[in-house]
Amino acid sequence: MRLEIVNLTKRIKGQLVLNQLNLTVDSGELVHIIGANGSGKSTLFKLIVNLMDADDGTITLAPSTYVGALIENPSFMENESVKRNIEFLAKINHNYNEPRIRQLFQLFNLDYDNKKRIQGYSLGMRQKVGIIQSIMENQDLILLDEPTRGLDQEALETFQSIVSNLIHEQKTVIIASHDNLSELPFDRVLKLANGKLE
Ligand SMILES: Nc1ncnc2c1ncn2[C@@H]1O[C@H](COP(=O)(O)OP(=O)(O)OP(=O)(O)O)[C@@H](O)[C@H]1O
Ligand SMILES: [Mg+2]
Repeated sequence: MRLEIVNLTKRIKGQLVLNQLNLTVDSGELVHIIGANGSGKSTLFKLIVNLMDADDGTITLAPSTYVGALIENPSFMENESVKRNIEFLAKINHNYNEPRIRQLFQLFNLDYDNKKRIQGYSLGMRQKVGIIQSIMENQDLILLDEPTRGLDQEALETFQSIVSNLIHEQKTVIIASHDNLSELPFDRVLKLANGKLE
């Protein structure tokens, strides 16, 4: 897995959000992108997963790279149970690994068999499910946008150990946030400002 971004430029409603941004990330790297509100972190992730088109520049990923992403608020089928939501997503790619999913739910103290609609889940619970979705299919490149939002101390520690395991398995993880997640063993911390990473 190698992600190579060259001269990426994105304007939104006339505003230059990303300005000839460059970034190369290799397998097994853990990268932290920090940046103020509105600096373009979520925009960068949306471009990587093709939720948006760039105005200029290139994003190159090996063809077989499978990307998992949690960008802004995870979206769900609100009137369905968590299991129905997860099954639906994982089965799109015929990648439903129930033992792995159950293990992740257990790690986060969530009940996979709870019949309650996701609509009634708390912010932190939704965030946990969003994190699980981004890693449950053994994705190679994982993009996490403000992943710790709403997580309590125990969940934060679980999250950190999950990320450390992913890196150990040579997965690539890019985390965007404005707070410092100093407990995590980042290879690089890059600041997004004025449309560029420094
Ligand atoms: N749909 C949109 N309409 C108008 N402006 C937008 C839109 N999406 C993004 N922007 C603008 O692009 C800039 C970058 O937004 P982005 O959401 O990428 O920032 P961010 O770094 O993720 O911020 P935050 O830390 O608040 O999540 C902001 O100035 C924002 O106003
Ligand atoms: Mg954002």
